Amino acid sequence: MTDSLARPVPDSFRQKANVDTETYERLYRQSLDDSDSFWAEQAERLVHWFTPWETVQSGSLAGGDARWFEGARLNVAYNCLDRHLESRGDQTALIWEAEADDEPARTFTYQELREAVCRLATALRGIGVKRGDRVCLYLPMIPEAVISMLACARMGAIHSVVFSGSSPDALRERIDDFDATVVITADQAMRYGRKVPVKANVDIACETLESVKRVVVVQRGGDEVNWQDGRDLWFHDLLQGASADSPVAEMEAEDPLFILYTSGATTTPKGVMHTCGGYLVYSALTHEVILDHHAGDVHWCIAELGWITGHTYTVYGPLANGGTTLLYEGALSARNPKRAWQIVEKHRVNTLYTTPTLIRTLMAQGDAHVTEHDRSSLRLLGSVGEPINPEAWSWFHRVVGEERCPVVDTWWQTETGGIMLSPLPAAESIKPGASARPFFGIDVALLDEQGAIVTGEGSGRLVINRSWPGQMRTVYGDHDRFVSTYLTEFPGHYASGDAAQRDGEGEYRITGHVDDRLLVEGVSLETSDIENALTADPRIAEAAVVSCTRDNGSQGVYAWVTPMLGEPTDEELADALKARVLNGLGAVAVPDVIQWAPALPRTRSGKILRRILKKIANGEIDDLGDTTTLADANVVDSLVESSRGN
Ligand code: WT7
Repeated sequence: MTDSLARPVPDSFRQKANVDTETYERLYRQSLDDSDSFWAEQAERLVHWFTPWETVQSGSLAGGDARWFEGARLNVAYNCLDRHLESRGDQTALIWEAEADDEPARTFTYQELREAVCRLATALRGIGVKRGDRVCLYLPMIPEAVISMLACARMGAIHSVVFSGSSPDALRERIDDFDATVVITADQAMRYGRKVPVKANVDIACETLESVKRVVVVQRGGDEVNWQDGRDLWFHDLLQGASADSPVAEMEAEDPLFILYTSGATTTPKGVMHTCGGYLVYSALTHEVILDHHAGDVHWCIAELGWITGHTYTVYGPLANGGTTLLYEGALSARNPKRAWQIVEKHRVNTLYTTPTLIRTLMAQGDAHVTEHDRSSLRLLGSVGEPINPEAWSWFHRVVGEERCPVVDTWWQTETGGIMLSPLPAAESIKPGASARPFFGIDVALLDEQGAIVTGEGSGRLVINRSWPGQMRTVYGDHDRFVSTYLTEFPGHYASGDAAQRDGEGEYRITGHVDDRLLVEGVSLETSDIENALTADPRIAEAAVVSCTRDNGSQGVYAWVTPMLGEPTDEELADALKARVLNGLGAVAVPDVIQWAPALPRTRSGKILRRILKKIANGEIDDLGDTTTLADANVVDSLVESSRGN
């Protein structure tokens, strides 16, 4: 980690931040040394409870039976809506922007959002949904998706949001796994300027499913859809006349709130289950401290609702804290490079949270799209989902945030419920690409391959040593799988599956998933180190490194590289890149192949699908495996085409 790159956080930000360094140190110590009192104080401050808890925490992480706030009762939707009516009923709770910039925005005040949620909850009860039932939400990024999540929470049904780009097969597998009785969908979704027939996908998925009794359809586009009488209902018909007077279900703290399936590139997807009490406390506190939420803030988390980031930082965290949250319908890409900045300017966005992938995509379009829009409202920027290379971090900091906004690189997972490691926004300075510090209550360690604790400066497997309120409780319907996946490899610890480095100041940097590491000529290499060396060249937008098998059977380094818009892809550039890696990391790390890629294949949540890149690099193009999570399938075709020369 190069400290010389560290960027100071301006005093103007630090003076107004929610938590300063001193407070962080004190609270972090309390959160570990006197954990019950810390979490009790936070839970009381952030959440309204109908009944108080008997124990703050019981069971244990290692035992796979951790429980938080047992005996307490609450309702998550009540906390996200009703609780704010008195103080901010007329404040905007939700702003929605369509993909097309000529379609008007839709906004909901807290009062209006509550009313919509209550009416849907009443209507769902009317079609037989009961507390504990499972409801599948296969919806585009429209306000009805947020309304549906909160309506389920209000009446005690368990929602599972399935990304609207998922295939009928993926949808069927998920509905089947958790026996949804109701699916809420739309006639169509808009993605990359194209219509996606989501209702038709539901029809295909449900052909062989017994459990689904009702399909509720939001009218988004107006195209003709197939209709199954007796099963299908229009969302707007269902709401017609439904009373806004809907009772609140008093849920146990440990009752499930939602199930979210992890993508499962090679194995069947896991239904990660989160519960009401601990998850809400953790979402609200991380949003307040790391995204530095202030009253009146407009927060834009550019992430799919079908991803945990959308759950925690578009819906539950910001609304629990009484913020204004922004939802964008479409996909941001090279196709509409101005759209993000138009929205920031128009709605005076204060906090912007997104992925390194999107940052790099927007960076490759040049600075003018950004600078021609007013960004003076921005106060904090955040990144999540992948290691962020220093160039993308610096661009985000310098060009987007005008060096005024701290950039927090936040590490966490679907399983962790909320942010686990992040720089403190009010630190004196922040190092690019370092997720820095554990959050309150997070007791981390690095282990070597034998499971021994690494002390001081060093690297190893990132594990968590004790429970925290936001942790997943189980894999839905398969508790043994929860224990064997996360708790068995290093007994007593939660195995994150990621590797990390810790520097001399105790700050962490995530180097990526352990499977992403390369072993070349007996030397273990981090893909992110090689990628950072490549993207350090200002002509390069993105790079992804995978292993390839050389003719003699040994492992080599294969680099997929996307240049900045308009840069020539020639030998000179390839040689310059190889020289950078040679100088920075040594001869073993120098790529055997530099393959130009107009774009890299990624999931909708922004992760580069290395599995696919590795297959193409090794010529296994006939069996690319599951490609259903791809954001844009055309990208793969063009890569296969460009790799043929090698
Ligand atoms: C995996 C989790 C956090 C919700 C979104 C992802 C990678 C996440 C970072 C980061 C480096 C990161 C890890 C992690 N990851 N954040 N700041 N730096 N890597 O949720 O789909 O469950 O993926 O994303 O590999 O394990 P997810």
